[in-house]
Amino acid sequence: MRLTDPIIREGPQLHVEYVAFDSFGVKSMCVRVETPDITVTIDPGVAAEANSFPLPVEKRRALLHHYQEAVHESCARSQAVVISHYHLDHLQPSRAVDLYGGKTILARDPAVMSAKQAETATRFFKTIDGLPKDKLWADGRKFKFKKAALEFSPAVWHGTRDAEPGTVVMTSVSWGKEKVLVTSDVGGPLETSTTDAIYSAKAQTVIVDGYPTYHLGQLASATPVRQHATDYDLVRSIVNLCRILAAPGLKTLVADHHLCRDYRYPAFFKLVYDKAKQLKKQFGTAAEILGKTSAVLEGYQNYGPTRWHKWFPLEARDARAVLERAVAEGRLDKEWTALFDRWVA
Ligand SMILES: [Fe+2]
Ligand SMILES: [Fe+2]
Repeated sequence: MRLTDPIIREGPQLHVEYVAFDSFGVKSMCVRVETPDITVTIDPGVAAEANSFPLPVEKRRALLHHYQEAVHESCARSQAVVISHYHLDHLQPSRAVDLYGGKTILARDPAVMSAKQAETATRFFKTIDGLPKDKLWADGRKFKFKKAALEFSPAVWHGTRDAEPGTVVMTSVSWGKEKVLVTSDVGGPLETSTTDAIYSAKAQTVIVDGYPTYHLGQLASATPVRQHATDYDLVRSIVNLCRILAAPGLKTLVADHHLCRDYRYPAFFKLVYDKAKQLKKQFGTAAEILGKTSAVLEGYQNYGPTRWHKWFPLEARDARAVLERAVAEGRLDKEWTALFDRWVA
């Protein structure tokens, strides 16, 4: 090498910045991905945690303001902003130049959204009219920015299939062979087709929305569409997370957002933590990946319990029994016990 040769940066070129997450104490899964060719902020929204979150209301409000600022700062440093769906923990509906001014917005066509989200989307685009540089509909498309690529999945279910929230898109950002995938609100994931797509994405880092265990026991059988969490859905999400951990090339799996609103999560997801250890892969909430304690656990330690007082770690035998029961009652396809044996046990 001659002294006049350009300096070539060694090591990873794609940097993932965890901007705002439920494990930091706000409803959000905002990520900034920096590459040499483009910097993108995914889902620039933040909302305050609910009363079941073990922090006093003034602390939750202070965290909200802090992370709203962090998201503004993140967008100001980005050329592109992704909006995976139109829930207010994924976008800020304000006419702020630093959020949207001069940016390429990659979002979802309101025409393909559920009625409620389409309404929010239409209002949102009216609010920011004239601010962005351009606006591109994302579903199932790929956009190149020199060596960087932004790729969007076709619509996937927002948690439970056919439920009212509708769908989201998953976002991958890659640069050369480096890739991160951010799922948005897949709520587990629950669906096999969603898990298939994550498994085969060839991402080194996957950031998923974990299962909303705070809904457990609230099965809304009176509603025509099952919207709320059940114990077998929790086990399905465990099977799917263990499968994602086994994906070739995957190094880090972050599970956050809905999962981090319930201080029981380390007990409920024990099997996934065990599997990660066995496979020598990194698994945890965004806070844990950064070497910190999740806000919900810190809150529980400092302020005590809110809604839940007694619970147990979910062990393999009990988890499998939950699936067996659901299969016997005809609520779940029998392939799930085989999937459990293959990926978890
Ligand atoms: Fe959502
Ligand atoms: Fe969300």
